[in-house]
Amino acid sequence: MEAGVGSEAIEPSGWPAFDPFELTDTVLGDVRDPYPALADLRRQAPVHEGPLPMPGAAEPRLHGTPQFTVYGHDEVVRVLRDHETFSSSIYHDVMGMVMGRTILEMDEPEHRMKRALVSPAFRSRVLARWETGLVTSVVEGLIDRFAGNGRADLVRELLFDFPVQVIARILGLPMEDYARFQRWSIELLSVMANFERGMAASRQLAEYFSGILEERRRSPSQDLISDLASAEVDGERLGDEEVFAFLRLLLPAGVETTYRASGNLLFGLLSHPDQLGAVCRDLSLLPQAFEEALRWEPPLTILLRIATTDTELGGVEIPAGAHIGVCVAAANRDERRYQAADSFDIFRDPRQHVTFGFGVHMCLGMHLARMETRVAVSKLFQRVEGMCLDPGDLDPHIHGMAFRSPTALPVTFSAVRSSGD
Ligand code: HEM
Repeated sequence: MEAGVGSEAIEPSGWPAFDPFELTDTVLGDVRDPYPALADLRRQAPVHEGPLPMPGAAEPRLHGTPQFTVYGHDEVVRVLRDHETFSSSIYHDVMGMVMGRTILEMDEPEHRMKRALVSPAFRSRVLARWETGLVTSVVEGLIDRFAGNGRADLVRELLFDFPVQVIARILGLPMEDYARFQRWSIELLSVMANFERGMAASRQLAEYFSGILEERRRSPSQDLISDLASAEVDGERLGDEEVFAFLRLLLPAGVETTYRASGNLLFGLLSHPDQLGAVCRDLSLLPQAFEEALRWEPPLTILLRIATTDTELGGVEIPAGAHIGVCVAAANRDERRYQAADSFDIFRDPRQHVTFGFGVHMCLGMHLARMETRVAVSKLFQRVEGMCLDPGDLDPHIHGMAFRSPTALPVTFSAVRSSGD
């Protein structure tokens, strides 16, 4: 059965297989190319009063709260580095109700202490353990389903499923629960579009995790829930609600971003056949290709902060309490930092981008995201040959505003090797 293709299909668990495009309202703002408008704004000034223009998205109701958006690279780094002036507590209002209290909304010193409790689960020794057994087998299993067909929609048949399956396995969830776990995950992620549905998914996830957490506290095994259950730093441990909040956070943080980022990488390569050819001939180019895709098309374009005090940024006075949109997408194409910033060029001189953020909240899962994507794309290129965008198909492209990625990547290819070769 093709998981995730068509809502008629039924998983062994009895839950309907999930059609990723059933919930198309997850994309916040629908725009094909926001970059010319972002460049105009950035060239006028690195910081503007007002929100990020988001065609197609609902206007946020802020009841007179002043809003600013930061477009320049250096100014973005300044905001993310200065966590005392620019607090992350704004995420409490934006997602606290549905997620619970997560490390994303915490300021120092609480943030440092709680992050120290969860971060050992993402250290490189653990990642190496996940890479060889777990990530590789998830990816091989998905590729097996379409490799013999000569064509596929990579978004539906590979990218949408692999990060959620990787997280499910890292958490040690039973395979028969994957379909409902994926459904709750997506419903949680689309909470902005449907609040009731998102809140219901949040409760269901907590109920589901509470049974598993209880069991792992009794008999720990080699998975992330067991690691979180036993984590201890300076006598501090995580309470049940803190574990649930962290697990919920992994869904938007670790699943949505990764499937979108890997789609942007594949779109970048497929729409630049010379660079695709270079990567297929030499897979060691993949890490630099992924960094370039992350810079060129970040899956998440804007981060949020709130000013804790009156301050000045990029020549603009910002009052205490103002909401700040930190536009990493605009920063990544700042011509003061990157030459020919609008081009996708995997051979450019590497300079750090801000797609994973910066400072104390910098992405905890970035090494996992890099490893997962490298494994998925390298396995794909090892298994099939002559891959190109399906010339007979609709016009695939990246779209979205707050979140960006292609909704389809129809490709043709000639199958070459089986996973055992
Ligand atoms: C390409 C994929 C990814 C991107 C672009 C991404 C991006 C980000 C960004 C920008 C932040 C900082 C947000 C802010 O400062 O406001 C962040 C934080 C975080 N990310 Fe990721 N992320 C990705 C993958 C992952 C994965 C795979 C995981 C884990 C499974 C993960 C877990 C987290 C967590 C837990 C935080 C909160 C860190 C803290 O507040 O200290 N992310 N991510």
